[in-house]
Order: sequence, then structure tokens, then C-alpha cells
Amino acid sequence: MRIAVTGGAGFIGSHTVVALANAGHHPIIIDDFRNSKPFIVGRLESLCKGKPSFHEADCNDRDKMAGIFEKEQPEGIIHFAAYKAVGESVREPLKYYRNNVGSLLNVLELQRQFGIPYFVFSSSCTVYGVPDELPVTETSPVKKAQSPYGFTKQVGEQILFDLQKAASESAKSVILRYFNPIGAHPSGLIGELPLGEPENLVPYITQTAAGIREQLTIFGKDYETPDGTAIRDYIHVMDLAEAHVRAIDWLAEKRSEAGTEVFNLGAGSGSSVKEVVETFEDVSGLKLNYRYGPRRPGDVPAIYANADKALKILGWAVQRKLSDALRDAWNWQQQLQKLPV
Ligand SMILES: NC(=O)c1ccc[n+]([C@@H]2O[C@H](COP(=O)([O-])OP(=O)(O)OC[C@H]3O[C@@H](n4cnc5c(N)ncnc54)[C@H](O)[C@@H]3O)[C@@H](O)[C@H]2O)c1
Repeated sequence: MRIAVTGGAGFIGSHTVVALANAGHHPIIIDDFRNSKPFIVGRLESLCKGKPSFHEADCNDRDKMAGIFEKEQPEGIIHFAAYKAVGESVREPLKYYRNNVGSLLNVLELQRQFGIPYFVFSSSCTVYGVPDELPVTETSPVKKAQSPYGFTKQVGEQILFDLQKAASESAKSVILRYFNPIGAHPSGLIGELPLGEPENLVPYITQTAAGIREQLTIFGKDYETPDGTAIRDYIHVMDLAEAHVRAIDWLAEKRSEAGTEVFNLGAGSGSSVKEVVETFEDVSGLKLNYRYGPRRPGDVPAIYANADKALKILGWAVQRKLSDALRDAWNWQQQLQKLPV
């Protein structure tokens, strides 16, 4: 199938482009590099079976996007394009609402205009807030959003549920709630590319190990967890990428019966920040310079997924371990410093 991948030069999008191409699909990358770099597209060409299409465009630009859809005739859309920094969204809410909600509306309207049957939306475990029970399932309550970013994911999901209710809908959607994607392609050619100081743990770890950051701060050592540090469900980005291929294939197979389905994508178990740091030290053979700081406002003590639904319906489960992801992230960080970009 020809699949439009908005945000396809970004962290998760780029790995999904590789997974799609290597599963026999034709990815159509649409990105304006507001949070990524053009060299990634060249690297994707070398990693993909067949050359993916690429268009530099802002998903908010309705006319330009219509021109791309007219030319490329995609049969499915995976919509990654969004801003994702929680802290920034608190400081600049309009920027987040404009891009995350505005670009989604645009793409959904174009989906209808061009009769594109399949749609996959990037959501997040942030929709669960501080969960009442662990692990969280897809039916766990969605809690009041802690940030404008989190709210844009809730709104995005609601838009898709409302579209499903509008009876004449023939288009089907999958909502994927990612837990904590980390790692990189094992080639070291693509990976997470934070522009500026990373907000996420693993790029902070690899940049500290590489000497770009002086010291890692672990936020909180007094949580009610076995070692006092926060627990998250880390998932290798290639496992996550492959889930998107399953989701698109499943939509195509089950088109007549599928509605809007939600899937948790996580490993199904949690790792503490301290465990991540220690595993990184093991795989890299380095001692990391870190200290403990106060809890970060808005951080939940622990969250991890029940991903049984994805296994049962999509036939998907993680294949890679935390140590694989950290080894690949470190390899990417080292390649990044060696190779011209
Ligand atoms: N990385 C995570 O931890 C995480 C967790 C849960 C959900 N998500 C969601 O997954 C999606 C992808 O995240 P990511 O980590 O790959 O982020 P990313 O910033 O690396 O990738 C997003 C890509 O979209 C592009 N983009 C953004 N707005 C655009 C627009 N209007 N037009 C064209 N291109 C645009 C950016 O340039 C970037 O290449 C996002 O929707 C994010 O909210 C990410």
C-alpha cells in the first residue's frame, strides 16, 4: 500500500518508514523539518527497500497537502506530525493546539476529500494521567490532562471517536497509545534527534555519556517504587515502528468490521530510572555522571502498559529488550558524532 507518513523524518516516523518499506509498503514522507533534519531523508533512502517518496510540507498547509495527496494517491495515513514537549506546551499552549489539533483536522478533512480508507493516529500513555491501577489497559479511565500537550492527544482521540459515531463513516482508524519509545535503528543511521536540551531520559543519558551534557539529573528518589525512582514502560522504537505496520495491515484486512480501535503499545512491564541508568552503564561500559534532584511537576510515579490487546488483535508484542534499546541508542549517539550530517 501507499502510506502517507506525516512527520516521517522524526524519531518514530523515520523508523516506521523503514518498517513499512521493508514490509513491502511504499512510504510517502511528509515533513517540514520543524523538529528534524533533512539528512534523515537521505539515510532513509539507504535503509529502505525501494525509494520512499518525500515532500517537504507543513501539514497545516491545506493546499500543499491536497497537491501531495492528489499526486501520490495514498491508501493510508499515519499521522505523527505534532509537537511533543510537555514542558514547552505549558509555556506555549497555542503553538501546541494550532499544530497538534490544527494539522490533525486538516489531514482528516483531506482523508475524506480523497477517500483514503485507513488512518493511524499517534497518541500517548499521557492520556491515563496518574493511573488508579497498574498495568493500564485501554479501558482504564482517561484522566484530566496535565498539560496542553496531553490534552491535544485526548482531543485528537475524541475527534476520531466522534467521526466513527457519525454513521456514514467508511474510514477506519487506529489510535496507538505509545508508552516510552527509546532506542534507534541498529544501523546507527537514524535515531532520536533532540534539537536543544533533551526532555527525555535516554537522549539525556547518551548525551551525558558523550560529554555533550555535564551531568544527568534523576528527578525524584522518594517515589513509592522499589528504588524510589519513577517507573516507565520503555519500548524499542523498532518494535513501535513494526506495530504501525501491523495496524495498517489490520485495517486493510478488517476494513468492513473495524471501527476506531485503541491499542496500548508498551513492553508490558516497567523499569525504574535507576535501572535504565544501570543498564546503560552495563551495555556501554561507562560510568554515568548523575545526581538526584527533586521530582518534576506533572511526572507520575509509575506507569506501564497492559499490551494484551495488541497481541490478541494485531499479533504484536515487543521483541527487543531494554538493553537492546540502550545499546542502539548509544550506537546512534556515537555515529551521530562521527558522521557528517
Ligand atoms: N517520542 C515520544 O516519547 C512519544 C510518546 C507518545 C506519543 N508521541 C507522539 O508520536 C508522534 C511522533 O513523535 P516523535 O517522537 O517521533 O517526534 P519528533 O518531533 O521526532 O517527530 C515529529 C516530526 O513531525 C514533524 N512535524 C511536526 N509538525 C509538523 C507539521 N505541521 N508539518 C510537517 N511536519 C511536522 C517534525 O518536523 C518531526 O520530524 C507525535 O505525535 C508525538 O506526540 C511521542
